[in-house]
Amino acid sequence: MSFDFDTVINRAASDSQKWQKYAGTDIIPLWVADMDFAAPPPVIEALHERVRHGVFGYSKPQPSQTQAVVEYCARRYGWMIEPSWIVWLPGLVTALNVSATAFGEPGDEVLCTTPIYPPFLTAPANQRRRAVPVPLVKVGGRWVMDFDALERAVTPRTRQLFLCSPHNPVARAYTRAELERLADFCARHKLIVTSDEIHCDLILNDTPHVPFATLHPEVAARSITLMAPSKTYNVPGLATAFAIIPDAVLRATFNRAAAGTVPDANVLGLVACEAALRHGEPWRQELIRYLRGNADLIAATVRDLPGVSMTPVEATYLAWIDVSALGLEAPGRYFEEHGLGFADGTTYSAPAGTHIRLNFGCPRATLTEALARFRRAVAAVRR
Ligand SMILES: Cc1ncc(COP(=O)(O)O)c(C=O)c1O
Repeated sequence: MSFDFDTVINRAASDSQKWQKYAGTDIIPLWVADMDFAAPPPVIEALHERVRHGVFGYSKPQPSQTQAVVEYCARRYGWMIEPSWIVWLPGLVTALNVSATAFGEPGDEVLCTTPIYPPFLTAPANQRRRAVPVPLVKVGGRWVMDFDALERAVTPRTRQLFLCSPHNPVARAYTRAELERLADFCARHKLIVTSDEIHCDLILNDTPHVPFATLHPEVAARSITLMAPSKTYNVPGLATAFAIIPDAVLRATFNRAAAGTVPDANVLGLVACEAALRHGEPWRQELIRYLRGNADLIAATVRDLPGVSMTPVEATYLAWIDVSALGLEAPGRYFEEHGLGFADGTTYSAPAGTHIRLNFGCPRATLTEALARFRRAVAAVRR
């Protein structure tokens, strides 16, 4: 079966955050992490059917929806989870905030490796915790965790670590060995780990994704794993995600912290999630092939551009591009002036003037035009 990723769908007049930002301009939006593709056909069909039902009362996840998650974990990751471990949520950002407030005391510290998706740092701050950023380091052409720096960052107030695996924005798919080393670090310091694995089904380089909690039962006992169909199947606007929390005490603590502020799961999101997990795999396989093509195009363009470099995109549809040699004060603003709506690296706590993040979850034609503009914009930099 063949799916269409080439058609350019007009989102400019829609409710899209990504496209509204540049409404009325000639700037191509390549920032916030959703894709410009329609969701997989089985997801759209399931939603049609649910909409035809016509009643949208308060939700309670159906056993088949929870079972779809259980079977997905077993099929894709060999992870045998219990239905009772699943906590349905409206999103991962909510979950990061719940984790931040659920464990420890105000003033306690949460480790996060940077650059990082902003809510990893803002969630602890929102919840009267202190986010402690520990920069990743570039070794042998890829971003890795600095375990010496992590050790140095631990204090008597360190309670948690927020892991992003795969890692947005550096597009790393961490290996089992790297995750094992991190698990050892967390065990030694008795840290609770919230592992955001929202990009886990978007691995482009064949590194097998290892859910952090599957490393060892002792690791599972201190882990909150966050997953969602949002990124892979392009349904983030349906606000549906889930946490998998094997330990009963951890789960009760998390649920207590969520009570009263976190809304019930969304009826359409639950339907989309089940359809995606049960029937989305052929579409996902083709998506991965398409995204690899896009990533290759970016890599080839960057290779030929003086002053621009990039580490390989191992996962996600986000390229983390080093533009520091161009000497731009604010690369995001500079490229906007050249018709490109990238995210500036500072959004992810990278030093100013060093990086941009390019979202390549778009048709090849859109990307090709963006890369032509990128070439011209880089050539126009006065150095
Ligand atoms: C690592 C990561 N976590 C969470 C999210 C957002 O999750 P949600 O929309 O479920 O709040 C994103 C979106 O870009 C992300 O990249």
